[in-house]
Amino acid sequence: MTHADRLAPLRAEAARVNQTPLRDLIADDPARARDFALRVGPIHANFARQRYDREALDTLFRLGESLDFDARLKALFEGEEVNVTERRPALHTALRSDVADSETAHASNAMARDAREAMRAVVDAIRTSGVTDVVSVGIGGSDLGPRLAVDALSPPGGGAVRVHFLSNVYGHAAQRVLAGLDPSRTAALLISKSFGTQETLLNGRLLRDWLGNDSRLYAISANVSRAADFGIPAERILPMWDWVGGRYSMWSAVGLPIAIAIGMDGFEALLDGAAEMDAHVLVEPVRRNLAAWHALTAVWNRNALELASQGVLPYDERLRLLPNYLQQLVMESLGKSVRIDGSEVGVETVPVWWGGPGTDTQHSFFQALHQGTTAVPCDFVGVARADAPFRDNHDALLSNLLAQSEAFANGQDSDDPHRRYPGGRPNTMLLLDALTPRSLGSLIAMYEHSVYLQSVVWGINAFDQFGVELGKQIANTLLPAVRGESEADDAVTRALIDEIAAQR
Ligand code: F6P
Repeated sequence: MTHADRLAPLRAEAARVNQTPLRDLIADDPARARDFALRVGPIHANFARQRYDREALDTLFRLGESLDFDARLKALFEGEEVNVTERRPALHTALRSDVADSETAHASNAMARDAREAMRAVVDAIRTSGVTDVVSVGIGGSDLGPRLAVDALSPPGGGAVRVHFLSNVYGHAAQRVLAGLDPSRTAALLISKSFGTQETLLNGRLLRDWLGNDSRLYAISANVSRAADFGIPAERILPMWDWVGGRYSMWSAVGLPIAIAIGMDGFEALLDGAAEMDAHVLVEPVRRNLAAWHALTAVWNRNALELASQGVLPYDERLRLLPNYLQQLVMESLGKSVRIDGSEVGVETVPVWWGGPGTDTQHSFFQALHQGTTAVPCDFVGVARADAPFRDNHDALLSNLLAQSEAFANGQDSDDPHRRYPGGRPNTMLLLDALTPRSLGSLIAMYEHSVYLQSVVWGINAFDQFGVELGKQIANTLLPAVRGESEADDAVTRALIDEIAAQR
């Protein structure tokens, strides 16, 4: 049976469910508020406002069961070659959990533990050496996870050591980060799995020159020889491995900026939260498995309701970078049109993921979400307990969060078409008890597993990213042309380079 054939029953269910407005689906079955919800550790997830009913949900769960979600998760955890095109496992789970049976997974877990010892030593060295600022240089998976966690978990005003991030090759980015920093009290981390990424190497050289002292330069890389060639001695190179994908790597030494910002114990609590989610997804059956439920809901919205984008709306300023992080995790993993065997997928795969924090975004793009012609399913992420002192603000935030979720789903009739809200906008509520390293770790691990299970439904590889290579190759060939040393082959590019040259 092809993947498209497997998805056909979902379309039939959608045609049936679509005849009833979402507000009626909810009103006719009030128990779904409780039955369509799950608690896993510090996360309460509620799917009651998704546009399916019990029958459709049952069809979805049967899809997950027929695709052996449990066995596929086991294969991931055991270190099977799930990254088929690059012939390697994707063992990010071993960075935080030792729940698998295989030698490979145990060995990977032991390597990760050793690396954490090395991280602890670096954190101690940095925190006790008078360093006040750390600049973390990296991009994509070597940036977005640490950046999110540092932003989310740092105490207000920053910790004892301030952590800054430099990803973009744009010169002003470096200028802005370095402005106000003292080279004699700053350390730099060059994070690059390949140690061959143009942006990171350029910014790394810039930092090396600016520091004027190599002893505060560290590397985190799977390519030790390239890091050594760059001039970083072995004792200041922390490991990465080819069995961890860049966008799944924040649990490794790539998370060093997190450990510096919140302490090594805080970093380990982040890992514990992820491990808690690992333990859940590995043992719970599809119908009680949060990642499976989340993944199947994504498939329902994409393939049955044919919705082309997905919003993520964190209602907590500290999670404002979650959409950026998820864009890479989800879209780099699932932005594929061929299956693992090279054949066309034949169904739509990843939607466009986008979003931003509430309540700011209520005053920017929510108009389109409420009354635009295209429904956008959304994940709301809320935090029940505030850590900030201003209780009234948090109450207002929570009431806005609940109001928007309700308004999207139920809408409101009016005789005036301009004041009518169609409703039927499906959304999931992910409520964290509090924002802690543990809850953030659990949340991110849930998304990782959901992404993997979506890839299982579509039969695609979630762990390669060949799509990003072509642009990099062309940029390399164009560099001499931009410098005026050669001519670009492409006529449009040539004309654009002429325009640029005229302005320089
Ligand atoms: O954007 C492409 C990519 O290859 C990502 O997958 C990766 O996280 C990023 O570049 C950075 O790569 P590296 O860690 O090797 O510098």
